[in-house]
Amino acid sequence: MKPLSAVILAAGQGTRMKSALPKVLHPVGGRPMIHWALESARCLDAEPIVLVVGYGAQQVRQAVGDEVLYALQEQQLGTAHATLQARPLLLGKTDAVLVLYGDMPALRIETLERLVGLHRQHRPALTMLTVVADDSMGFGRVVRDQAGRIRAVVEEAAATAEILALKELNCGVYCFDAAWLWERLPDVPMTPPKNEYYLTDMVGLAVQDGREVQALTIDDVREVQGINTRVHLARCERILRERINEELMLSGVTLVDPHTTYIESGVRVGQDTVIHPNTHLLGRTVVGRDCVIGPNAILRDTRVGDRCLVLASVLEEAILEDEVSIGPFGHLRPGAHLGRGVHMGNFGEVKNAYLAPGTKMGHFSYIGDAELGPDVNVGAGTVTCNYDGQRKHRTVIGQGAFIGSGTMLVAPVTIGRGAKIGAGSVVTRDIPDGVLAYGVPARVRRPVEGEASDPSDEKT
Ligand code: UD1
Ligand code: MG
Repeated sequence: MKPLSAVILAAGQGTRMKSALPKVLHPVGGRPMIHWALESARCLDAEPIVLVVGYGAQQVRQAVGDEVLYALQEQQLGTAHATLQARPLLLGKTDAVLVLYGDMPALRIETLERLVGLHRQHRPALTMLTVVADDSMGFGRVVRDQAGRIRAVVEEAAATAEILALKELNCGVYCFDAAWLWERLPDVPMTPPKNEYYLTDMVGLAVQDGREVQALTIDDVREVQGINTRVHLARCERILRERINEELMLSGVTLVDPHTTYIESGVRVGQDTVIHPNTHLLGRTVVGRDCVIGPNAILRDTRVGDRCLVLASVLEEAILEDEVSIGPFGHLRPGAHLGRGVHMGNFGEVKNAYLAPGTKMGHFSYIGDAELGPDVNVGAGTVTCNYDGQRKHRTVIGQGAFIGSGTMLVAPVTIGRGAKIGAGSVVTRDIPDGVLAYGVPARVRRPVEGEASDPSDEKT
């Protein structure tokens, strides 16, 4: 028998989100909300993981895929009823069952590890997560006897003034003795007036059975912020963001203003990098050491080497080797690869192109579907005309070439090593190494000694 399985409750409609999208699919921390519970369950090696779905079941299944098992709760009759739907899939399968919600994304994996650890140590009927807080957040109250043993959980709606005054709250996260859970869960009674089956009633059943109820009590309420409205959504987003930012700062990254720095969980940043305000580091972005990023930079799925500068630019699926500087107002699109020491000034755009080390493009140029050798100078306003209306074509520029301002490179076209293109040229044919060419269309004007001139060059 395996040690642990998990049941994630995610059947609720989330009416208060006022959304066509099922609540657990709303993004938080750059991922659909449900990702966080699934990730936690996986990290704890829970197997199998059962996702209880109801509202928008089809959409949720599609988004999550077949790495988990699904139990359908057609009518939302309460948390015990929801858990019961997983019973046929998990009966006799594991020693313990972790039950958690799909709408509590800020819950730390370490907390769940501690919960499961405590459970394994004491082997009670259940180990529950509780929090001590002044604001009840509408949570159920944990009732203990004089010896400190947990006797019941009372929902806020049913609580007397005395019970309402209790500060220990039920977070709704439990680790159960599996055999006991599956045996006793069907005995949970229906509770009026909503006629729901409350999972919290398992506490009373454990007491009846003379079984122990353990609790892991945390003091950081932010962890158990659930999401019912978009106000909660923003709150959770902020909690996750602050956590990521704090971890980065403690690892040696300067965030000039953490409140306006948006870094997703999959991102890595090297030591002594400084991140200025209004910077977004998204997806699988990796930034090296000693970089300066922002203000106003957006990097998605981009790899940045060491000692790079990125000012007010948008980088998507790009690679920057060491000592690259870009911006302000640069745009790297998928497949842009800037070699060591490349400089890209304002209003440059690079897509699906490699710029070898030392190449410079200072001002408003477009380089797409191209390969530029080392130390190329791309003059202001140079454009690779890569699209003929039907297909994309490549431009190749050799080492040390000098492209004059306002040059149109009509692809497919190759510019030789060390060639010079005069300003305002429209280059429609390949230009050999080392020559000077200019004009519309560009013609070779001054061949390098020993080389034939361009046959297309007309004598005038
Ligand atoms: C529950 C607890 C309460 C605890 C609180 C913490 C019960 C009876 N009460 O209350 O003690 O303080 O969580 O957040 O358990 N769900 C289903 N199917 C259902 C009902 C709920 O899948 O039929 C899912 C919801 O989608 C949600 C989660 O279970 O993700 C919690 O349900 P919710 O109704 O919000 O529970 P609370 O009333 O907050
Ligand atoms: Mg409820």
